[in-house]
Amino acid sequence: MPNLTINGQSYFADAPPDTPLLWVIREDLRLTGTKYGCGVGLCGSCTVHIDGHAVRSCAVTVGSVEGALITTIEGLSPTGLHPVQQAWIEHQVPQCGYCQSGQIMQAAALLSQNSNLSEQQIVDGMNGNLCRCATYSRIVGAVRRAAEIMNRAAEITHEGASHG
Ligand code: FES
Ligand code: FES
Repeated sequence: MPNLTINGQSYFADAPPDTPLLWVIREDLRLTGTKYGCGVGLCGSCTVHIDGHAVRSCAVTVGSVEGALITTIEGLSPTGLHPVQQAWIEHQVPQCGYCQSGQIMQAAALLSQNSNLSEQQIVDGMNGNLCRCATYSRIVGAVRRAAEIMNRAAEITHEGASHG
């Protein structure tokens, strides 16, 4: 019974160690924000964070992520207003919405490494996340906006620290 840490809580997965993480997240824990698309690591709809990195949860086994910190879309922000989520709302990115949790998780991991990305770096960083509704241009705009929000928040923190 693999012991998993998901969104800050510990679970014993009642599943063999070779079970895909996505199955446990959706079927056992009912965290259904993470979507099943292709099941073979090719579409990105099942993207979660493992130790802060964007990972396709259909393509990793529960046995391989014991001890790691796993975050799903439900745990990305306690308020649901992570800068990426704020930007997604502002830019009204989703159409059918199916791919969007994965897009948001991919974007959040990308920006956590570097919030000063060029347009091409954003396109490249989001490249493996497919959208049948072709919301790609809004996604790029929203990632840029999320970067602005994050950079502005960092400036305010810095200004506060230097005046305090
Ligand atoms: S469902 Fe995991 S990458 Fe498509
Ligand atoms: S919004 Fe429909 S698949 Fe992306």
